[in-house]
Amino acid sequence: MKKSVYIRTFGCQMNNRDSEFIGGVFIDKGYKLVDLPGEAGVILFNTCSVRAHAEERAISSMGQLMHEHKNRIYGIVGCAAQALGEGLFKRLPGLNIVCGTGEITRLPELVKEAENGRVLALEDKDALLPELKPTYRQDKDAAYVSIMRGCDNFCAYCIVPYVRGRERSRSADGIISEIRDLAGQGIRDVTLLGQNVNSYRPKAEGRRSKAYGFVELLCDVNKIDGIEKINFMTSHPKDATGALFKAMKNLDKVRKHLHLPLQSGSDRILKLMQRGYTRGGYFDLISEALAVIPGLRVTTDIIVGFPGEGEEDFGKTRSLMEEMKFDSAYIFKYSPRAGTEAAKMPDDVSLRLKKERHKTLLDLQRSISKGKAHEKTDCCHCT
Ligand code: SAH
Ligand code: SF4
Ligand code: F3S
Repeated sequence: MKKSVYIRTFGCQMNNRDSEFIGGVFIDKGYKLVDLPGEAGVILFNTCSVRAHAEERAISSMGQLMHEHKNRIYGIVGCAAQALGEGLFKRLPGLNIVCGTGEITRLPELVKEAENGRVLALEDKDALLPELKPTYRQDKDAAYVSIMRGCDNFCAYCIVPYVRGRERSRSADGIISEIRDLAGQGIRDVTLLGQNVNSYRPKAEGRRSKAYGFVELLCDVNKIDGIEKINFMTSHPKDATGALFKAMKNLDKVRKHLHLPLQSGSDRILKLMQRGYTRGGYFDLISEALAVIPGLRVTTDIIVGFPGEGEEDFGKTRSLMEEMKFDSAYIFKYSPRAGTEAAKMPDDVSLRLKKERHKTLLDLQRSISKGKAHEKTDCCHCT
């Protein structure tokens, strides 16, 4: 049991991929991955910090496990570890390890150290994880491939740049060789992951020029024998371009699905959010994408109750959703995150109003989705 590890993941697909990576790191050190925490000597939660609810859920479930299973090594890993740091030892007195987003490669070492006392490892959130051969994959047919880490956008509400560090792109050679290996193992379906894939920009290498970016990477992945479907997430409206839409149309393996988070339909709120586009700009972008790519499915993310969101602002989000008729939309209630720009603004939309607006948009989207002939989306980047 000592050399067995249980990993539970919270948050986005990037975190899921990190958990797989962590699994691979432990397997390389002779550990076994187990599905039940009761069977594990090491219990790790790879956490999310994007909303308070995600953090609280992880902390309370770990507290419960600690109560049920004694004499294990417990670790909180990833974004909430990076955000909450040492404070987690106070919240969870039985906790042995707090390991930040850039230190996950060292986890087997940290487990050893934890036998002699608590371990805090948060130093290098800007680390570019080493190229590991795909030793462990959860799925036999489909795989996630991280093409970049971090984010430089600093949207006012968002904690990701603070917990995942500066945006850095993996080398195209590394990504292509990983996908070739995956194809060799029988994987047919790949999803390229990044917080803002459209700003993928690796350091110039070999025959690749400085102009090599996400569109060029898509073209290269499209050429890999054995791969049949290519998905990607997430795109940012300020960086999505006509060149991307043309590539999506022309590359036969690329799925005709664009996840393009809108967040708000009010220009005033978009500005406060520091999103870098307007309602009209977003509308034009989607219109262009739909004109270029026949049968395109468009999905989005929306936040209700951002500081200062009045009835008029909310009405603008609702009316834009009515116009756009997204295939699917994830609707979130604004959650203030310590350290972000928005956390300095008063969280002045009451919880009652946030819940009401959340329900209004959920109901609206349900009726729109029902009315559309498309199949249901399987893009779920937030759990
Ligand atoms: N990089 C991606 C998404 C990251 S987080 C992007 O830019 O779209 C996924 C979604 O969580 C965001 O699109 C946003 O809608 C939501 N989100 C992020 N921070 C939030 C916060 N503080 N409160 C509520 N929702 C938030
Ligand atoms: Fe957060 Fe904005 Fe970066 Fe997305 S683009 S991860 S919302 S800061
Ligand atoms: Fe959450 Fe971290 Fe992803 S904060 S959304 S797990 S990058």
